[in-house]
Amino acid sequence: MDTVIRNANLVTPGGIFRGDLGIKDGKIVQIGQVERGTQEIDAEGRWLLPGAIDSHTHMHLPFGDSYSADDFYSGTVAAACGGVTTIIDFATPPRGQSPREAIAHRRAEADPEVVIDYALHAGITTESEESLAEIAELVQAGSPSLKLFTAYSNLQVGDGFLYRVMEEAKRQGALVGVHAENGDVLETLRQRFIQEGKTGPIYHYLSRPAFVEAEAVNRVARLAIATQSPLYVFHLASEDGLETIRQARRNGYQVMAETCPHYLIYNCEVYSRPDARRFILSPPMKEESDLQSLWKGLQAGDIQVVATDHCPFMVAEKQGPFERVPNGIGGVETLLPLLYSEGVAKKRLSIERLVQVLSANPAKIFGLKEKGSLLPGFDADLVLIDPRRSYRIEAAKHFSRSDYSPYEGLEVEGQVVMTFSRGELVYREGEFLGRRGFGRFISRTSPQPC
Ligand code: URP
Ligand code: ZN
Repeated sequence: MDTVIRNANLVTPGGIFRGDLGIKDGKIVQIGQVERGTQEIDAEGRWLLPGAIDSHTHMHLPFGDSYSADDFYSGTVAAACGGVTTIIDFATPPRGQSPREAIAHRRAEADPEVVIDYALHAGITTESEESLAEIAELVQAGSPSLKLFTAYSNLQVGDGFLYRVMEEAKRQGALVGVHAENGDVLETLRQRFIQEGKTGPIYHYLSRPAFVEAEAVNRVARLAIATQSPLYVFHLASEDGLETIRQARRNGYQVMAETCPHYLIYNCEVYSRPDARRFILSPPMKEESDLQSLWKGLQAGDIQVVATDHCPFMVAEKQGPFERVPNGIGGVETLLPLLYSEGVAKKRLSIERLVQVLSANPAKIFGLKEKGSLLPGFDADLVLIDPRRSYRIEAAKHFSRSDYSPYEGLEVEGQVVMTFSRGELVYREGEFLGRRGFGRFISRTSPQPC
């Protein structure tokens, strides 16, 4: 045995129990009582969980002449130090570029840099026969999850094309993921506010009210039902959107949803704060009733995944009229700490449910077949959490390159103390121990709706 972690509270698919976990050649090989290992670690009764999978990040995202604050190196260092052991980022082709070319481009950026494993969702932004024909190749090449947009004029596709993508995805075993906001309506509202000189941060929120999301979620869910295609709704923020998902699931359709920590922690009051621009992202935070509904959806299983949409910028970039502020906030480093603290410590989620929404479900939904569970044969992607510790979030102590955290000053109960990536200790007690390029591109198998 290479490494044995002893006396842990292990959260496994078969239940929680106190015991040991043995690692050999980067894999979990034994759970329970384990023979001696070369390296022995005493977990002292702390939680041992599968590493979190952040299935929604945007490292090195182009914005104007610049990029989002984290590249694939700093972003995956931040991830590892927060207990995330896999990210799924995006290859979003500019119009005219093929999804396969976009994947090759992103892999050239990411492969030498990543410190943990990663995968890529394949964006489809050009309405063409070639894009449809490529879906089969994307599945073969290990990126069987697609991303389509119903908003953003440079990325948005029409309903007819989305319908055809769903038909083809169904045939090929791909999963269609959608950024669901009604782009035409929000653009109308945006332009109206701009013309009226209403450019404060609150108008970002007011140009994207809840119905803008709910209408799009309802529309894409109806298309998915009509085509019998599984559907994954990225970054769900509204109660009305959730209701559509809930109804579809009750009727037996494979409609899944992700929400993000910011929608579970903040409501739209952030857009009235002096630092409101720091919270500009899309979809924006909604009402308190939406926030409460999302927690209920997470508890009840109507929402299957929590991911971050990690896309941080610098304070100096989050300035000016709302329409010029780059959209996006950071969060990969605080995903697990915040969901543990706000969910498990505050008794809104069981520790088993936490593991489902951060590890087991994203692994299953996105076809990461050797990740997401503490089981022999799975990758030894692990995180040790000390439930007795508490601390306050300070961006200055973070590994992300962004100079602020949207969660600055929040009290966190529980602390990530160690992270292992394929058996290698990559984080311990405030120190990053991994190495650039250690992470691998994970070629994924067919998604399994859950
Ligand atoms: O506002 C957001 N979500 N920014 C990240 C990039 C994107 O549009 O998904
Ligand atoms: Zn995103």
